[in-house]
Amino acid sequence: MFPLKLADRLITMYSGPGDLVFEPFAGVGTTLIAASALGRRSVGFELNPEFVKVAEGWIAEESLTLLSPLDTTPTLYNDDCRNLAKYLEPNSVQVTVTSPPYADFIRRSVEDRKKTHKTSRIVHDNNSKVKAYSDDTRDFGNLDYDKFLEDSRELFAALLPVTKPDGYAVWVVKDYRLPPDRPYISMHSDIAKVAQEVGWLWHDLIVWDQNEQRRLVLLGYPTRFYTNQNCSFLVVLRRKLVK
Ligand SMILES: C[S@@+](CC[C@H](N)C(=O)[O-])C[C@H]1O[C@@H](n2cnc3c(N)ncnc32)[C@H](O)[C@@H]1O
Repeated sequence: MFPLKLADRLITMYSGPGDLVFEPFAGVGTTLIAASALGRRSVGFELNPEFVKVAEGWIAEESLTLLSPLDTTPTLYNDDCRNLAKYLEPNSVQVTVTSPPYADFIRRSVEDRKKTHKTSRIVHDNNSKVKAYSDDTRDFGNLDYDKFLEDSRELFAALLPVTKPDGYAVWVVKDYRLPPDRPYISMHSDIAKVAQEVGWLWHDLIVWDQNEQRRLVLLGYPTRFYTNQNCSFLVVLRRKLVK
């Protein structure tokens, strides 16, 4: 889950009242709630029915208190976001704000923590707990990195024509290190690359410093020194400007 404040800030920056906000990986619905509160219409997809239930509960709770005169109750589909073209009109989305699963990195981290980080400060000091989203083969969190990038490319290709000309898409991602040798995986630039390959413009990159949420820990002692990843990257993409 990412903070409501972050979704709020991005939606305010890249859309106006009445615009359509899209969230392909809705989770418990943070983007949709933020969009409604700001008077934006919104559509989301979520594969896991348990998260859909939580999101629907949150939406119902919030819609009792929303003051916007527009009909801003979000629409949430319990479906694979790869099917987005079946539900969205061409040129309709002003901004997509999402935090996708990070390929199978959560699964890898769970395994890794059982071995390498069993007694590490990353687990104890930061109270860091991770759990896979589902066992569904359509879940982007169950794809190895190459397949994840391939499917992300297809998702960007499907998203482009439903996005308004000049509209935006913001992908909140983290970089990673792959065990056992831990080479650095620059997910933010890989995501920007596959999006550009299918026609998106890389518009901006915002670094979200998360040092206040968890401490920076020195790992790999005594042979290879590296730190845990303490920031997320907001990859801001844009559908090509209309001349
Ligand atoms: C990082 S979480 C999103 C968290 C969200 N930003 C929030 O605040 O709750 C990624 C979500 O994507 C969902 N997901 C994974 N693959 C999907 C797919 N193919 N279609 C729709 N949702 C998917 C997972 O079930 C998970 O809830």
